[in-house]
Amino acid sequence: MPTAARTLADTWLIGDVEIASRVVLAPMAGISAQAFRRQGRRYGVGLVCSEMVSACGLTYGNERTHDYLRIARDERPLAVQIFGSEPERMADAARMVVAAGADIVDINMGCPVRKVTKTGAGSSLIEQDGGDLACRLVEAVVGAVAVPVTVKMRRGERNGSRACLATGPRLVEVGAAALTLHPRSAAQMYTGLADHSLTAELVDLVSVPVIASGDVTSRERAEAVLHGTGAAAVMVARAAQGNPWFLRELTTGADEAPTNDEIVAELVRYARAVSREMGEARAVPFLRKFHAWYLRRGSFARSLRGELATLQTLPEVEATLFAAAPGALAIVESTTADDVDHTDDLELGLPVSIYGGG
Ligand SMILES: Cc1cc2nc3c(=O)[nH]c(=O)nc-3n(C[C@H](O)[C@H](O)[C@H](O)COP(=O)(O)O)c2cc1C
Repeated sequence: MPTAARTLADTWLIGDVEIASRVVLAPMAGISAQAFRRQGRRYGVGLVCSEMVSACGLTYGNERTHDYLRIARDERPLAVQIFGSEPERMADAARMVVAAGADIVDINMGCPVRKVTKTGAGSSLIEQDGGDLACRLVEAVVGAVAVPVTVKMRRGERNGSRACLATGPRLVEVGAAALTLHPRSAAQMYTGLADHSLTAELVDLVSVPVIASGDVTSRERAEAVLHGTGAAAVMVARAAQGNPWFLRELTTGADEAPTNDEIVAELVRYARAVSREMGEARAVPFLRKFHAWYLRRGSFARSLRGELATLQTLPEVEATLFAAAPGALAIVESTTADDVDHTDDLELGLPVSIYGGG
């Protein structure tokens, strides 16, 4: 399709997996819980991704863990992201996540955190051995599973690096079905700007879909990145934190700001889903960062966030939120009826990394 004709609401393919829009919800360690992914799908995201999980922890169970991955029917298609540096172990990990229901296996070549890169994994793979190890990893994983295997990478290790343009096409030659590029260097972490001129160069070099990640913070920017690079889709990470309405705006153009009642209703609905997923004791601290993100919108008293941060139970959190936005209760009651029964969720005893980042 000529890229100018592409819209964010189009359907597209990774291998034979159909993706319902050109908006992809990014993997984010400590954030991309099942509730976050399902919410993304409700708001029009075409593809969701788990946070990165350790191939080592998966196959040996010897990684410090803080979570278990649950896969629900209504979040699919789902990419599960794995990280590691040993081809055989990555192949085993890929078999396990596919057996648990992953539609796509994504390999992390973007995490810049030292604890990950010093093991030879994450962003260090793009340049290590001139990209040879990265190719061997992709080859091993492609050989192990029947689903599409994709790679998410940074531009390279140092500022100004163009290593992604050398390694990316080689990964496609050995079977990668799509590439996501976050065109910052590992050294940059999250500073500076994502340089999507590299994304455009990568698109020209490969025959598979490229997903553009980095600084998609408005609909105009998303369209500019999509059309300016020829990417198949844009990926949204930080701009989706506490702002599912932004995801909906990307595919529909609807840009009305949610009311206080709608914000609280969505937050409560989300909190309940997180609590079902991980239990109340873990959900309450997990949700604190989301309170701050959601309540940045609307017109809430600043003291509300501080008050929520001291609460230890979900009923207390809900009562405080409903007191701040009394119309939210009726919205929650009218929407929970469409929540899906999760007793059939597949749960994988899968350690989600405590490190995180990409
Ligand atoms: C808190 C946080 C955690 C992240 N965890 C991962 C991860 O587990 N795997 C990964 O590939 N990228 C991870 N990333 C990178 C994002 O997927 C994305 O590429 C990056 O944030 C740039 O996109 P943005 O400008 O839309 O935030 C993480 C980013 C953030 C902010």
